Amino acid sequence: MATDRKRVSAVNSTSSSLELPMDNYSQSSQADLKPRKPRVYRSKVFIIAVSFSSVLLLIMISAFAVHYTVGFPSSSLPNGGEKDALTMALPPEQRVWVEEGISELRNAVERKDNKRRAKNVILFVGDGMGPNTVTAARIMGFKEEGLMSWEKFPDMGLLKTYCANKQVPDSFSTATALFSGVKVNYETGGVDSSVPLGDCAASLNPDRHVQSILKMAQDDGKLTGFVTNTRVTHATPAALYAHTPDRRWECEQKMPAAATVEGCRDIARQLIEEPTGQKINVIMGGGRQMLVSNVTDSEADPIDTWSCKSNDGRDLIQQWANIKAANNEAAVVVQNSGELDAINAQDTDYVLGIFANGHLKYEHERDTSPSGMPSLKQMTLKALQVLRSKNQGFLLVVEGGMIDQAHHRGTARKALNEVLAFNDAINATLQALGNDLQDTLVIVTADHSHTLTINGHASKGSNIFGVAGNSKTEGTPYTTLTYGTTYQGFQPDANGLRKDPTLEDTNDWEYMQQGAINTDENYHGGSDVTIHAVGAMSYLFHGVHEQSYVAHAITYALRIGRFRDSSIAESLADLLPL
Ligand SMILES: *[C@@H]1O[C@H](CO)[C@@H](O)[C@H](O)[C@H]1NC(C)=O
Ligand SMILES: *[C@@H]1O[C@H](CO)[C@@H](O)[C@H](O)[C@H]1NC(C)=O
Ligand SMILES: [Zn+2]
Repeated sequence: MATDRKRVSAVNSTSSSLELPMDNYSQSSQADLKPRKPRVYRSKVFIIAVSFSSVLLLIMISAFAVHYTVGFPSSSLPNGGEKDALTMALPPEQRVWVEEGISELRNAVERKDNKRRAKNVILFVGDGMGPNTVTAARIMGFKEEGLMSWEKFPDMGLLKTYCANKQVPDSFSTATALFSGVKVNYETGGVDSSVPLGDCAASLNPDRHVQSILKMAQDDGKLTGFVTNTRVTHATPAALYAHTPDRRWECEQKMPAAATVEGCRDIARQLIEEPTGQKINVIMGGGRQMLVSNVTDSEADPIDTWSCKSNDGRDLIQQWANIKAANNEAAVVVQNSGELDAINAQDTDYVLGIFANGHLKYEHERDTSPSGMPSLKQMTLKALQVLRSKNQGFLLVVEGGMIDQAHHRGTARKALNEVLAFNDAINATLQALGNDLQDTLVIVTADHSHTLTINGHASKGSNIFGVAGNSKTEGTPYTTLTYGTTYQGFQPDANGLRKDPTLEDTNDWEYMQQGAINTDENYHGGSDVTIHAVGAMSYLFHGVHEQSYVAHAITYALRIGRFRDSSIAESLADLLPL
């Protein structure tokens, strides 16, 4: 009932804001309505003037219509032989850029907005993938001239990532903005900014819960899923299904006893025991140590000693399988790459894939055999198969989560390599979608930035992990990539001067770039992040947006949640007009 009332008042406020200028207009025109002398209407001059104006008006309207439909025709851009003729006279140093410019211009002129309502949405989130990270990864993978698969998308914008109480946010608050459309406090998720960090009692108030696009998609009968190479209970995925005042509460062991007594549930339990979590069709990632007590530690699958580790005797993986069996649902649990590949998507409605105790291994150190952990691309393609096979429409969220992990350790090569693995997952997804892009919206963005810097002025084509030059004041070499904050910090030598980075192998996976400020790890950066979109309704991403806009644009594109009542969506379309 409450929702209905809100809808009605939204419609009223829309129409009243429309009426306002019309009232003003009719008032002023009434003031003009003085009785005139009827003779004027019969005068020849008047008739001629009216006829002339009508003809003029007709010409103007036709000209406008022609101009509008024809626009600036792309045929006025040179193509093929014409282009050759035009650019032939140019020296090669100029021709290459003129040709490049014309081909980019052609893409820009031929852009057509796909305004079809989206049936499916795939949202890719590169955790900590700020603009400098993308540029550096692009140079690493495709040289200066190359592009990531998402950098060819027709629409893009910027997102402002600050959260409710910090200039530079964490992943839980930003994921909540992205997925639920509301900016919230640092390190909290699924609860609005009235809930302070760690306040269990405040977080239990259902009025303070914000609803994610995943839940709204479920309410509309769509299939839902998420894939991450971090723990399934980690900040980014948790914002899809949990309402928690502290991201550290992934399992019971990191929760204060008082919070447990007050009735707060850890994130792993929310995933397996709450309705939203239970309805998720595809769950893939790591985090076994949150779901199962007393997991075994090994070199191949180490226990994460930084995070929570369950010790209350739970086996939430078994519990998940039992619930699915009791409901007679086609569900499968998979725990390595081979088992994942063996899933028959057509016959499967639910997948719980838990591939590691903690996060999955970095792409470069992953065991690629069937008993090892799957790649982000492997998980994404299988998730897509399962979600597409039912033809109900779906929402899939894919997190490239290890970019951020590597940046926190200050190891840029690992971070950039994870961006390339993220790119592989996206490239393969686009190829798998083919013509389905007509009614699928694909979005690629990041949750927040990092402090990676690209220093001047290495030669074009240089190794991005190499030395850019020698300091003009100290004479000491410096690398192209450095961080603002990092564990290794300033790295002074015996004389208190900055250490020569070439004393180490700057190409090593473990090499930590130097940084301006010494601290316990590299912190997040506060720059905007880019958002790129292709497919149905991709034109909604255009300009500088609040990060929270993304959830609203997705629900509008899918006509779910607030926009489920199509009359509101349509009246908004008339108003804008879209
Ligand atoms: C995408 O995949 C295709 C086919 O494997 C490959 O040729 C292309 O270089 C890839 N593009 C990017 C940007 O990764
Ligand atoms: C294993 O789990 C039980 C609860 O079932 C707990 O009491 C015990 O301390 C755990 N053992 C270890 C070694 O963590
Ligand atoms: Zn982070």
